[in-house]
Amino acid sequence: MRAATLLVPTTEELEPGCPSAGRPGQFSRKICPVPVACSCAQREGGDCVLVQKDSLLPRARKLAADPGRQPPDADAAISIRGLAKRYGDFVAVDGLDLDIRRGEIFALLGPNGAGKTTTVEICEGYRSRDAGEVLVLGEDPAAAGRRWKAQLGIVLQSGAGESQLTVRELVRAQASYYPAPRDPDEVLELVGLTEKAGVRGKSLSGGQRRRLDVALGIVGRPTLLFLDEPTTGFDPEARRQFWSLIRSLRELGTTMLLTTHYLDEAEALADRVGVITRGRLVEVAVPSSLGGRETAPAVVSWTEDGARRSEATAAPTALVRDLAGRFPGEVPDLAVTRPTLEDVYLRMIGEPS
Ligand SMILES: Nc1ncnc2c1ncn2[C@@H]1O[C@H](COP(=O)(O)OP(=O)(O)O)[C@@H](O)[C@H]1O
Ligand SMILES: [Mg+2]
Repeated sequence: MRAATLLVPTTEELEPGCPSAGRPGQFSRKICPVPVACSCAQREGGDCVLVQKDSLLPRARKLAADPGRQPPDADAAISIRGLAKRYGDFVAVDGLDLDIRRGEIFALLGPNGAGKTTTVEICEGYRSRDAGEVLVLGEDPAAAGRRWKAQLGIVLQSGAGESQLTVRELVRAQASYYPAPRDPDEVLELVGLTEKAGVRGKSLSGGQRRRLDVALGIVGRPTLLFLDEPTTGFDPEARRQFWSLIRSLRELGTTMLLTTHYLDEAEALADRVGVITRGRLVEVAVPSSLGGRETAPAVVSWTEDGARRSEATAAPTALVRDLAGRFPGEVPDLAVTRPTLEDVYLRMIGEPS
């Protein structure tokens, strides 16, 4: 077998599901799950031989629309086809396709600089795009009017900042922009800021200010809520409270696009997660199956003759049954584990786990 290293000109030629998608350069040898060999791969005896470091360089891909692409779905909450955004020569979003259903909580995961905020703010109508099609609640954010905007709730990554107004005044002022707002005091209760209603915005702690941002985002009774890193700076208790707030909004039918660094948050809240790296979506899946997690070999470990033993297996039940027959009582320190969301995520973005 030839131990070749292949040049990968750009990631655009990779087939969906290719392990090198978005991160050529990270693998030396890998079993390729793509049924047909894509142009990154030289298949030899089932092996897909990758890679070339140079291909990691961000480069301006051709931004023209792909004629084979399905048109965006006007019935989806968000439908994106071939989205591209450049800052000067730097390509921040590089041909992104995504559909988010109505009523869904979708989490966009990715390292700093991956293009999450750029993508979200294009959907909000805050940033322009260089190429691609975007429909949000059936309309193009670049051209949509006030009635469309009134259906959105927005929690920006940067937040509301300092204010001389009190918390209640800020939420009331925001409510006044919307045709059918929620009751501001109920919203303060929902985000746990009732006790701080009379306090000036600028004297809140970081976590409280973030909760105020969320209050400002939901007071307009949005159909679609954008939350860009909403829990950064929260302590664990505040994060849990926030999660239950998100769940209660979901029960009211609110669609949410959330970006986060916290994998446990994505796992706890999201119906589906999308992993974005270098401006491209590497995978979209339900959290339990991201990166083939649910079918990845399980690792069975136990203690035997004073030593820790472990075995990776696709049939953990059979191994556990075998162990149970070998030990008279409990199998010492028996554990069965599969890759965590963090393990598969780090692998996807090319970090060692
Ligand atoms: N206004 C801007 N001007 C120039 N570069 C920008 C601007 N906004 C974002 N970028 C760059 O685009 C890339 C993606 O940024 P961003 O969308 O904020 O990523 P994320 O939210 O995933 O951290 C980063 O490399 C960032 O430095
Ligand atoms: Mg961001």
